[in-house]
Amino acid sequence: MPDLNGKVAIVTGAGRGIGRSHSLALAAAGAKVVVNDLGGGLAGEGSDLTPAQQVVEEIKSAGGEAVANGENVADFAGAGRMIQQATDEFGRLDILVCNAGILRDRMLVNMTEDEWDAVIGVHVKGHFAPTRHAAAHWRERSKAGGDVKGRVINTSSPSGLFGNVGQANYGAAKAAIAGFTVIAAQELQRYGVTVNCLAPNARTRMTESAFELPDDAGAFDPLDPGNMAPVVVALCADEAQGITGQVFHVWGGAVNALRGWDAGELFASDERWDADALLAELVDRFPEGVAPPGMIAGMQAAGGRSLRTK
Ligand SMILES: NC(=O)c1ccc[n+]([C@@H]2O[C@H](COP(=O)([O-])OP(=O)(O)OC[C@H]3O[C@@H](n4cnc5c(N)ncnc54)[C@H](O)[C@@H]3O)[C@@H](O)[C@H]2O)c1
Repeated sequence: MPDLNGKVAIVTGAGRGIGRSHSLALAAAGAKVVVNDLGGGLAGEGSDLTPAQQVVEEIKSAGGEAVANGENVADFAGAGRMIQQATDEFGRLDILVCNAGILRDRMLVNMTEDEWDAVIGVHVKGHFAPTRHAAAHWRERSKAGGDVKGRVINTSSPSGLFGNVGQANYGAAKAAIAGFTVIAAQELQRYGVTVNCLAPNARTRMTESAFELPDDAGAFDPLDPGNMAPVVVALCADEAQGITGQVFHVWGGAVNALRGWDAGELFASDERWDADALLAELVDRFPEGVAPPGMIAGMQAAGGRSLRTK
């Protein structure tokens, strides 16, 4: 396992599910961990520090160092206090894993303003706010002549990258996080910070209805939340300093560095297109029409498998 001794990590939404696994793995590799979790329900209602405290206890009883943090990642000032807590407690920050998330699924035609705002807030602002404060910490250290090897690891979703019916709010937020990853990677490279992103697949309270248990209890479980952790630990190693701006789809042992928006079907003209001519070209080039294949086809092409058939 890469040696992360001496490094300090924050993992958001780390009281349960995937974030808990990230925290345990980072601590096992030697990092000191700030375990953030607001501790609310799946839709983001309420708050409770107990899940974060339990993960801190697990890390401590395995011989590691950790502290709990109950800030809401979508609160700009709260995110600032979380970064401050890491530097106050452990003297520095090296790794930020933005993982906290909620769901408020609804078909677009029925979605309320609140369902839209809450999901966009927790995911998109909940990535921006901690990253913004962490970036300021790293810029300060870099300008003071320090050798910074900072890491940001974001959390997108197959829903945002391939599109999933019933998740216009969540998918839009997760697509935004992939775009945010690319720009943050470009901006923070000059300070020695890499920014990458996961598109995980794991059985947690978020997905327990979609992902069934494996038939053989002793066999490798591709949907164990712990399957994401080696990707995080590897990206946090000093040797991964050159790997940035990537979005990794993870399903069991299939880790796929996805290609995002890419040069596709070119309709080239030496001058401005005439709408009639362009329409004729579109219909000619796409005689059967053209539409996104959807999340399940996207996941399968990336090496994953949805247990749903539709
Ligand atoms: N489970 C999957 O298959 C899957 C697939 C794609 C993406 N994801 C993403 O992975 C991340 C982790 O999800 P999970 O499946 O472990 O779900 P989870 O519900 O088990 O964990 C999410 C955690 O985030 C915390 N949280 C929510 N809002 C918060 C806030 N404002 N501030 C701080 N903490 C907050 C929750 O309390 C919870 O403990 C999420 O971003 C999710 O969207 C999960």
